[in-house]
Amino acid sequence: MSLQVSELNSFSVERLRSEFPILKRSMGPSNLVYLDNAATLQRPRRVVDREREFSLRSNANVHRSAHRLSFEATELFEEARKKLANSLGATDSHELIFTKGATEAINCVAQTWGMDQLQEGQEVIISRAEHHANFVPWQQLCRRKKLKLQILELDAEARIQPSALEGLLNSNTALVALTALSNVTGAKTPLGELIPIIRAKTSAKILIDACQALLYETEFLKNYPVDFLVGSGHKMGAPTGIGFLWGKRELLEAMPPYQLGGEMISVVYDSDSRWSGIPYKFEAGTPPISQAIAWGECLRFWEEQNRDWLDAHLKALTERALKKLEEVSELRILGPLSAKDRHPTFSFSVEGVHPHDLVTFLDSKGIAIRGGHHCAQPLHRQMGFGSSARASLTYYNQEEEVDLFVEALKESILFFRRLSP
Ligand SMILES: Cc1ncc(COP(=O)(O)O)c(C=O)c1O
Repeated sequence: MSLQVSELNSFSVERLRSEFPILKRSMGPSNLVYLDNAATLQRPRRVVDREREFSLRSNANVHRSAHRLSFEATELFEEARKKLANSLGATDSHELIFTKGATEAINCVAQTWGMDQLQEGQEVIISRAEHHANFVPWQQLCRRKKLKLQILELDAEARIQPSALEGLLNSNTALVALTALSNVTGAKTPLGELIPIIRAKTSAKILIDACQALLYETEFLKNYPVDFLVGSGHKMGAPTGIGFLWGKRELLEAMPPYQLGGEMISVVYDSDSRWSGIPYKFEAGTPPISQAIAWGECLRFWEEQNRDWLDAHLKALTERALKKLEEVSELRILGPLSAKDRHPTFSFSVEGVHPHDLVTFLDSKGIAIRGGHHCAQPLHRQMGFGSSARASLTYYNQEEEVDLFVEALKESILFFRRLSP
């Protein structure tokens, strides 16, 4: 049985990989082994081709002009919005705002809803695992508005425990803003358990940073009924420079605009202005048009893959990587040690070896991993490290790549240990 599964896997992985030209790139001794998918995913050829085709054939600004090209561009852009809304499980595409990325989306909520609605003494809960994008905007809002920032601490394997959240919730809790999947530890947030607890105990709004989870969770909003959801296209193979904010209509309508200028107004007088309806009220200036259209193509690309196979393959990769990494006695894995609680994003530290040295050594073998704080300094500080090395895998990675990576890692540890015994 397992042989059949692995035969099927290697066949399908090859097919999937053939859609990503960059994976054939030679990096010296071998082809690229790309294990930095949490930073940005590689792009399918189709996505690049679609953006190019739009630029060469249909390029025009949207919502502005009555000429045919502008109509065409507007139609394609709005189709992409519907496609993304649909893939998130949203029923109303007007609730979906295109932004520059997840960072801008969170800042938008903090600066509009947060500045407008939150009052001194109220509380905002974030977790210790948050990316700076979902940490700093709330920290600074709390300072400015004299709110209390509550940091939800993690358990010994960097997981969020529902009981820990329950202990922080109270009648002053106005917002719970959590990552769906940690970009450092790979821990999956148990949203299915947390959301009912938050709803039962408070009237707090819930914002979820789904950057790392979106590719792996279809129809997110159907499974997790939240108030705000944010993500970035490049984390799932779409171009950089585009992300989204989804929010409930009544919340978005009540929020003041974030940025002011063209496109977001209905009327401008000398002394005052009126705003467009949603989503345009939040899309000041020319939006990322070709990027949105390419994102739509990216969503179609992933929809056409076999989900069952993708999920089985990701599970196999997670289990293999976990097993192999656990065999390296010098490593400390920062995150869950059980495959069911995690995604194959593995951050780790090696005593006496700096993460950047590991990254450089592996890079010399064509293996791309990341070293640093991964935009999560409060998490690293709490775990007792300034930084860590991170290998993050996705659907197109192969089990052979896991083996190559772990072998190179062992070699690098030996190398650096010999240098400074
Ligand atoms: C969990 C998480 N949240 C937010 C972000 C910010 O995304 P962006 O830089 O695309 O705005 C990232 C990017 O690494 C992330 O991993």
